[in-house]
Amino acid sequence: MFNIIIAENYDQVSSEAFKIMREVVRKEAPVLGLATGSSPVGLYKKMIADHNSNGTSYKNCITFNLDEYIGLPKNHEQSYWTFMHENLFDNIDIPEENIHIPAGDKEDEEKECVEYETALAAHVVDLQVLGIGSDGHIAFNEPGASFDSVTHIMELTEQTRRDNARFFDDDITQVPTHAITMGLASIMRARKIIVIATGANKADAVYGMIKGPKTTDCPASILQDHDDVTVILDPAAAARL
Ligand code: GLP
Repeated sequence: MFNIIIAENYDQVSSEAFKIMREVVRKEAPVLGLATGSSPVGLYKKMIADHNSNGTSYKNCITFNLDEYIGLPKNHEQSYWTFMHENLFDNIDIPEENIHIPAGDKEDEEKECVEYETALAAHVVDLQVLGIGSDGHIAFNEPGASFDSVTHIMELTEQTRRDNARFFDDDITQVPTHAITMGLASIMRARKIIVIATGANKADAVYGMIKGPKTTDCPASILQDHDDVTVILDPAAAARL
């Protein structure tokens, strides 16, 4: 079941996401599932502002990130490790040992998948934040990924690599070809999920997620089976609903 919120603009979208986040963060030991990409940046800014002005603490919070590019060292400027530290973790009081991000620079990435899934499975994510790719991917589960998948390696579609080339000097050849990602089944275990999507290039994917058939062609359509998903959109992303 989807609860759909259509907000006026990106700032309002981020405020709606923050309202849900704030409730969860007030719990004693919250477990957060976090996403990268442009969509959650406004939410993270609001979390930082709230931490600075109201002292909201993340000391007891545990986080699991969705995914990471394979082949980028942790400290690469476009790694998701760097993204998360710059956009959130370095600006709140979360202890480094509470942060989990899959490593994309291990010699044995299959082993990393198993270890990441094992760490994740020992927790229940209270709130999972998601963006959505223009091809309907969530995390890096591209079309065709199994609904039963747990943390795994995924080859990125050309569309995703093209979308993300803006972070790599607009040069698709610099965008990694593979990623390590939580699986669709891993994501579905979260108690509560929010999906943030803005802009006209997300309208088809948002339609597929909510109104389309449940199919691995649109990985986000698996969310039709979750009982607590809030989708927060701007009017452009909601245009086809
Ligand atoms: C990226 C990430 C996803 C993200 C999506 C949309 O490739 N792996 O987790 O949700 O694509 O990104 P954006 O929010 O920048 O549009």
